[in-house]
Amino acid sequence: MSADSATKKRVEELRDLIRHHDRKYYVEAAPEIGDREYDSLMSELKRLETENPELAASDSPTQRVGGEPLVEFQTVAHRVPMLSLDNTYSREDLLEFHNRLGRLLPDEKLEYVAELKVDGVGISVWYEGGVFARAVTRGDGSKGDDVTANARTIRNLPLRLEDRSGRISSDAVMEVRGEIYMPFESFRKANEEREDEGEPIFANPRNATSGSLKLLDSKICARRGLKLVVYENAHSENIELPDEHWEILRLLSASGLPVSPHNRLCRNFDEVVSAVEEWDAGRRRLDFGVDGMVLKLNSRSLRDAAGFTSKAPRWAIAYKYEPEQAETRIVSIDIQVGKTGALTPVANLEPVQLAGTTVSRATLHNFDEVARKDIREGDTVIVQKAGEIIPQVVQIVASRRPADSKPLGLPISCPVCGGDAVKPEDEVYYRCVNPVCPAQAKQRIRHFASRHAMDIDGLGIALIEQLVDAGLVRDYADLYSLKKDELAALERMGEKSAANLVNGIEASKTRELRRLLFGLGILHVGERAARLLAENFDSMDAIAAADAERLMTVHEIGPKIAESVVRFFANERTKDVLARMKAAGVNMQSEKTQTEANPNFTGKTFVVTGTMKNYSRTDIENLIKTLGGRASGSVSKKTDYVVAGEEAGSKLSKARQLGVRVLSEEEFEKLREGG
Ligand code: IVH
Repeated sequence: MSADSATKKRVEELRDLIRHHDRKYYVEAAPEIGDREYDSLMSELKRLETENPELAASDSPTQRVGGEPLVEFQTVAHRVPMLSLDNTYSREDLLEFHNRLGRLLPDEKLEYVAELKVDGVGISVWYEGGVFARAVTRGDGSKGDDVTANARTIRNLPLRLEDRSGRISSDAVMEVRGEIYMPFESFRKANEEREDEGEPIFANPRNATSGSLKLLDSKICARRGLKLVVYENAHSENIELPDEHWEILRLLSASGLPVSPHNRLCRNFDEVVSAVEEWDAGRRRLDFGVDGMVLKLNSRSLRDAAGFTSKAPRWAIAYKYEPEQAETRIVSIDIQVGKTGALTPVANLEPVQLAGTTVSRATLHNFDEVARKDIREGDTVIVQKAGEIIPQVVQIVASRRPADSKPLGLPISCPVCGGDAVKPEDEVYYRCVNPVCPAQAKQRIRHFASRHAMDIDGLGIALIEQLVDAGLVRDYADLYSLKKDELAALERMGEKSAANLVNGIEASKTRELRRLLFGLGILHVGERAARLLAENFDSMDAIAAADAERLMTVHEIGPKIAESVVRFFANERTKDVLARMKAAGVNMQSEKTQTEANPNFTGKTFVVTGTMKNYSRTDIENLIKTLGGRASGSVSKKTDYVVAGEEAGSKLSKARQLGVRVLSEEEFEKLREGG
């Protein structure tokens, strides 16, 4: 059966709406609606597309979640080669670039566009008839990999261009060039996830970007938070483009392409120097890596006149900022024990200033990495901040190696408990396999208490060390039998902090199952896998009872995770720990099985805004759902209640304007208690 015209119309309407909101959120950073309203548009569109498969379209916003995995990438030749740029490192070289252009183009007024040189992966993006058609990596400059499926998942890459300029006809073809990059926040998250899952972490955001683009499974790429910035038009057919690069960038931006708002039009060379100086400091405020500036002639006709060398255009140059590196010495190398027993070598450095902070430790990642770089105690090394975050050892200074230096041996035992260190064949980490290793216990408890897991306020690593060393706590179940007096007797611990901690531990008993599951620190079970399991089983008991085959019926749970889960629950110690937590009253039911329907909540729509004292946003929204209500992201006439915490802003004013009932956190509690 084919879709009726009303359905077709609604599908188009939904796609346009979602495109509009995608642009507002991802390109302009000025969202107009909340997550829930957006999600409801998206789920309506998904439903209509599933019910009416003939309406499927490659430029539908539903196509961003990733498709079937590829077997390999196709190699594609670039229509216009992707050249690189000449680099300069000093003002003198920059002036020389300008003077050379002055000699090539005498009597011309030379204007430039100064752009940030974003540290990512160069990409060519094709649009045909205004629709996203293909994305190809730079490769060797003349041919690259077709990464269209992965690029489609990048939220600020428009799947269809907007034609505000009226220049994009149905036979228009356009190739733009840009950079795909990973913002620091996404980089941190990706690495956290990899650590949780026992995978080696990415060294820097650029590696993380190229690793993500090379994933054959675009569903995984979709979660990596990649972004695009567009900086050149490389080719166009049936579109009339202005002569000035600055104007072209404006046109690209008006088409919905993400063009950097930090570009500067420089009317003369002095303005180029100012822009370079402005961003040398300014780049540190950005949430992505910038390794220099690119200076380009503004006029395309002057660009044509200047031409190319065999490697690079004469009309553009990259000005590289000083890499944030420093030289120091490795005093010693420690081995850190992670929560799953992974042994990570960490260098203790002679303290050195680097990108605004003092660095005295740097991770050496794993023993393969140490061997590859031949890093030893006593070595003089170059350190650098990866993507301005993690200090890392780039290389050793071989000429300054002490005569008696010895290679770092491979671990045979755990440095803390002396238990066996074992390296599973398909892994990069050596692991301490002693189940009662106190170092592992500390890390496991730290993970258990962390924000995304059980979120226990006031339980930091220093306190955990004290608790474990004093013998008060051996595993996370022991937390639930801690007494206020025991705690208050600890060093640097007053009555008040002891009481706060006991309250924090008590409050953690009601956390959702997915948080508890994540907090258990099961090898390969990160936040996402924990959520999937919690959504697909009724309780901890049901998960513990499932065999690998049953676990793998959950989409995205593969054999590696399934086997690890089975192994975890088969362990006698796990059984004991879980039994003790259950006895203490820790929630082990999945949210979907608990509805304490409350007549004050049933069928009512709530909007939560501002900061609450006793709840995180997610917690209060989950509670509303558990009680039978709906939690929405935006206020409308249909909203029944707005729960307003501290610093509530526009949603609160809108509620007042529409006469929607506003509740304080206390009034919300009363409503819950039936008041
Ligand atoms: S223009 C012929 N502009 O830097 C024009 N490149 O070293 C070539 N890059 O391969 C590129 N930001 O991947 C240009 N605003 C920008 C850039 C930029 C980063 C990268 C790009 C290029 C490399 C050149």
